[in-house]
Amino acid sequence: MTRTLKLGVNIDHVATVRQARLASQPSPLEAAQLCIAAGADGITAHLREDRRHIQDADVIALSQAGLRLNMEMALTEEMVRIASTLVRPQSCCLVPEKRQELTTEGGLDAVASLDKLLRWVPVLKNAGIAVSLFIAPDFAQIDCARQCGAEFVELHTGSFANAVSASEQAAELDRLAKGAEYAHSLGIGVNAGHGIDYENIKPLLAAVPHLHELNIGHSIIARAIMKGVGAAVVDMLELMKDYKGE
Ligand code: PXP
Repeated sequence: MTRTLKLGVNIDHVATVRQARLASQPSPLEAAQLCIAAGADGITAHLREDRRHIQDADVIALSQAGLRLNMEMALTEEMVRIASTLVRPQSCCLVPEKRQELTTEGGLDAVASLDKLLRWVPVLKNAGIAVSLFIAPDFAQIDCARQCGAEFVELHTGSFANAVSASEQAAELDRLAKGAEYAHSLGIGVNAGHGIDYENIKPLLAAVPHLHELNIGHSIIARAIMKGVGAAVVDMLELMKDYKGE
């Protein structure tokens, strides 16, 4: 059976580890290629204004390697220029950004940002880039996506992922399902992301219709470490085994 739901892997945390030493490894490009070889449909990378993990050279390398790249970015003139002239990814996902946050905390307030969206979304689209807005599953936000001509919304699944009770989780799933129905009825593609892991993906997929793509980062990279750390230790021990110290 063919799989219709696409997976975009967010590789920001590979760059986080690299930046901890300002080294060349682990390489986000190599990680991206492994993700694609394993069956992922695309790669997401967030070029933050503070460049805390992914660097300009990373998104350029990912794009030049011919990977299907979804570049996450803030709605700023600098980022629109980098995306539309230097990187030219297949898609851009516009997200809010705060310097102090650990990760993207909320969705973009598309209602408050409508003027900027009307200004910058056409620039991205004219560069051949599909535009997605990372928003809460609220009808007013989705209306703004339609107004500015975004082809996709990425529904923020963070409130669902962080729900502390079954009733809260059910309420968040209901919001996501209604948001997905509404966006789909307007002809907008529906993606989802943030906080999706190996447990909560099941209720999410059972409840939310019309999903085109999930963007998942932290849980996949966390599992990659746990699946790979043993093999990495074996490799190092192999290099140490013949040492006699004399
Ligand atoms: N989608 C968007 C727009 C994000 O900002 C993030 C986090 O960088 C993700 C998806 C991935 O979230 P997570 O790392 O929690 O899977």
